[in-house]
Amino acid sequence: MQIVDIRSDTVTKPTPRMLEAMVKAEVGDDGYGEDPTVNKLEEMAAERLGKEAGLFLSSGTMANLVAVLVHTRPGDAVICDENAHLNRLTMGGTTAFAGVYIYTQKTDRLGRLNPQDIESTLDLDPRFPRASLVVMENTNNWGGGTTISPKETKKIAEIAKKGSLRFHIDGARVFNSALAQGVNVKELTKDCDSVMFCLSKSLCCPAGSILAGSREFIKEARRVRRMLGGGMRQVGVLAACGIVALEEMIDRLKEDHKKARRLAEGLARIKPGMVDLETIQTNIVCFEFKNARLGCRELVKILAEKGVRTIHLQNNRGRMVTHKDVTMEDIDYALEVIESAISKFNAP
Ligand SMILES: Cc1ncc(COP(=O)(O)O)c(C=O)c1O
Repeated sequence: MQIVDIRSDTVTKPTPRMLEAMVKAEVGDDGYGEDPTVNKLEEMAAERLGKEAGLFLSSGTMANLVAVLVHTRPGDAVICDENAHLNRLTMGGTTAFAGVYIYTQKTDRLGRLNPQDIESTLDLDPRFPRASLVVMENTNNWGGGTTISPKETKKIAEIAKKGSLRFHIDGARVFNSALAQGVNVKELTKDCDSVMFCLSKSLCCPAGSILAGSREFIKEARRVRRMLGGGMRQVGVLAACGIVALEEMIDRLKEDHKKARRLAEGLARIKPGMVDLETIQTNIVCFEFKNARLGCRELVKILAEKGVRTIHLQNNRGRMVTHKDVTMEDIDYALEVIESAISKFNAP
């Protein structure tokens, strides 16, 4: 059976160049700061993002948690999109480990936070939790991989500054955002105090994320990473993949964006209204599906039985993500399977 796995870009396999780099990587004990390949990756990544320093962590979840722990104290509040990964997909880790309260915000259709809503959270009676951090996703995952522009980022940064809040960007897919907007990624990161991006998603590394910020922030983040048990040793073997990713995997993200557009346009043709085409800006296709005889969860199950793996998010909402390891032919095949599954349940 043909398998088209579009649950996430995390399913991507490392490239032959990455495997080669792993074998050749010069390594040392990163616990002592002595892994030259890790050090090189951290410097390269920080430079790309326009930040003073970087830190290699095992996952995006840990990198975001470390950022929250450094920027807040227990009892503080974090402001973020109600559907942010930080709020919904960390198994409750943000509140459990950082002891923070979360002021959740609604975004607009394109995943953008409303600056006025953030401002109103800053003006509360002193009996309410005091916000000390704003977190913004770029791209916005739940919104459908939508991009946040430098101008919108600046607006959020200005409000954060006005309220003496720190500003962290969850940029798990920030390179997708920069490429889709045709801007240098530094334009998206220059106004924040810290930023995280994932190497293990569309950049195809087997593991790893980078947290970047000021030298002082990263010094503290390194300490907190160790506190969480996230210190690593000869991980130059993984960092070597990250270096290859930064050198040669960013420009190709535009191929993933083209595949997402084809997929989304196909879905819109099969069932008008299933996809909001304006939200298709990068490699994520969020869709709404329900008909009289079939719900989204059931559709996802049926597609999986036919080899097309997608994700049910909640209620009628599902997600598909394009990446290096699916071809245009795979996308066309997935569309055929989807059309056939839906048409069976449309029939009287
Ligand atoms: C927006 C966003 N932030 C953070 C993460 C967490 O990354 P990881 O899976 O490496 O923990 C993800 C992963 O899906 C994500 O989509």
